[in-house]
Amino acid sequence: MNDPASPAATLRTALADLLHGLPPTEVTAAVDRLIATYRGDTPTHAPILRDRADVAAYAAYRMPATFEAVHSALTAFADTLPDWTPGSHTDVGGGTGAATWAVTETWPGERGVTVLDWAEPALALGRQLAAANPALAGARWQRARIGEDLTLAATDLVTVSYVLNELAEPDRAALVDAAAGAAQTVVIVEAGTPAGYQRIIEARDRLVRAGFRVAAPCPHSAACPIAPGTDWCHFSARVGRSSLHRQVKGGSLAYEDEKFSYVAATRLPAEPAPARVVRRPQLRKGQVLLDLCEREERLRRTTVTKRHGDLYKAARDADWGDAWPPHDSAS
Ligand SMILES: C[S@@+](CC[C@H](N)C(=O)[O-])C[C@H]1O[C@@H](n2cnc3c(N)ncnc32)[C@H](O)[C@@H]1O
Repeated sequence: MNDPASPAATLRTALADLLHGLPPTEVTAAVDRLIATYRGDTPTHAPILRDRADVAAYAAYRMPATFEAVHSALTAFADTLPDWTPGSHTDVGGGTGAATWAVTETWPGERGVTVLDWAEPALALGRQLAAANPALAGARWQRARIGEDLTLAATDLVTVSYVLNELAEPDRAALVDAAAGAAQTVVIVEAGTPAGYQRIIEARDRLVRAGFRVAAPCPHSAACPIAPGTDWCHFSARVGRSSLHRQVKGGSLAYEDEKFSYVAATRLPAEPAPARVVRRPQLRKGQVLLDLCEREERLRRTTVTKRHGDLYKAARDADWGDAWPPHDSAS
């Protein structure tokens, strides 16, 4: 359960309020249109989020999930650099600002925040929602087109969340290069699909070539040990379903799992985890099977049994995406 004053809880309330005045049929029609668009050909040459109904639908339907995915990625990064807090943040292709909320959830407090997007209605709604979050009071919501002439002002942290998918390859490269030139730390999140993972790997390679080190999810900055085309590295974040989700998708499940791929890379002296759990752990009687990506640049399944004492207890609590071993049982 979220702390009622946390950004996560405040965002949920702000999104519920947003839908109050809108006719449900209009919102579900806009959601249906968006889902169809996102299944269609991307990238696009004009903003997909065209008007207030589009952005309200996007915000209500997708923001809780993109917020949770980015929050998971940022939390994994924060664990590699526990004493660091970003003093400034730029969210590129920030839309209605899910990543800005996730940054304030991860590192509470105010900082210089800039959100860049080419869709003015998204920026307007993002600004309106952000009024409920004191840490975003000073945020600047600015129109910008991602392309080869994109320039970014120096900043501690750049986030790029669910944006690469909407860009042609040269623009993806230009965005990653601009982020690498401006930021100490770059966190990129994409859908947890084979194509999303592929875009993450390309961005990761580009960041490493620019002198960044990978802090999470990978335990190292060498090549990904997954043989191309055989699998894809992704994680899962649990998202509480809103009444809108139930309306659009039917059924009564209280949550759904958002699958995402990500990379967090930095010029700072981060300490990546020795290994990361890359699949949902399998609990058996007296043992836990963990699929790990390890510092030794390999994937390996390990079996932790009762004989391992505290480590076994930790393995039973371990979740897909966690660092392994956890900090307090590393000895
Ligand atoms: C799927 S939304 C993600 C929004 C937000 N980052 C999030 O995680 O919820 C993609 C965003 O990228 C923006 N975008 C796509 N292509 C762009 C471009 N060429 N220049 C600027 N923004 C762009 C869209 O307007 C939209 O807000």
